[in-house]
Amino acid sequence: MDIESLQASSLREIADAASGQQLEDIRISVLGRNGSITALLKSIRDLPKDERPQAGARINGMRTVIEAALVERREALVREERSSNLTEEIDITLPGRPHHRGGHHPVSQTIARIESIFVAAGYRIAVGPEIEDDYHNFEALNIPANHPARAMHDTFYLKDGSLLRTHTSPVQVRVMKSHKPPLRIICPGRVYRKDLDRTHTPMFHQVEGLVVDQGISFADLKGTVLGFLNEYFEREVEVRFRPSYFPFTEPSAEVDIRGAKGWSEIMGCGMVHPNVLRECGIDTEKFTGFAFGFGADRMTMLKHDIDDLRMLFENDVRFLQQLA
Ligand code: PHE
Repeated sequence: MDIESLQASSLREIADAASGQQLEDIRISVLGRNGSITALLKSIRDLPKDERPQAGARINGMRTVIEAALVERREALVREERSSNLTEEIDITLPGRPHHRGGHHPVSQTIARIESIFVAAGYRIAVGPEIEDDYHNFEALNIPANHPARAMHDTFYLKDGSLLRTHTSPVQVRVMKSHKPPLRIICPGRVYRKDLDRTHTPMFHQVEGLVVDQGISFADLKGTVLGFLNEYFEREVEVRFRPSYFPFTEPSAEVDIRGAKGWSEIMGCGMVHPNVLRECGIDTEKFTGFAFGFGADRMTMLKHDIDDLRMLFENDVRFLQQLA
């Protein structure tokens, strides 16, 4: 059989093939090891020497044409099958398939809201490492070795002597050392303490605030905290400042708000201790500052009336969906 008529008949067969299996049979009979193209190639050696290269080229050309036709027909068959499926009758009375919508974790939502409240008030957002060193987590914050306040922090230590930060206050130090006042920042982030019960998890989230400028007073701290809490809880909250102690602030206070179940403590705050300012290279004759720190998880619980902190970390979708 000559090349042209073999090509023409193969192409016709391919065009008529009605299934993938038929196409495959054609492929084997034309291109296979015992197929017609192989036979043609073998017959080349019977030709006169000078005709051989040309015959080889034409046979290879034909192989290319047939291979392309096979691919095209196979795709066409798939398309035909798909569109015939589409014309199947649709039962519009069947119930729809629900689409589950994802959402941000409640604590992430809380942090995002807190950030937007402070950003609107001119604060910038700062972050620091979760693996800290003793210097930034304690020393520079006026908590020297053997200071009794270290016992308040059930610290996770790493083998190399570094630690998981027990609060976001080390970010204060990093910001004051790398930026000149005036400073207005909040630092949200994860913190770690060896603790686990209804109101404590070994990892939780804090938001730290720091303002350093000329003439900053405790009144500024109080106004900032009150303004923030009213905005966050979307109501006039009843707030009380209780004198307290933190090594890195003086004077220090704890802030409580009144909810349905009475007073709850929500944050620590105070005027940045001069030792801390000095350690960070800030002129204490010229600048004063205030700082505060609170738990973002706790804020979430208070806002949504959740009474077990662990709910936030167990990833039970039925719970999370209610707040998504
Ligand atoms: N770092 C303190 C804590 O974790 C909170 C705090 C921050 C207190 C800033 C005063 C000023 O308990």
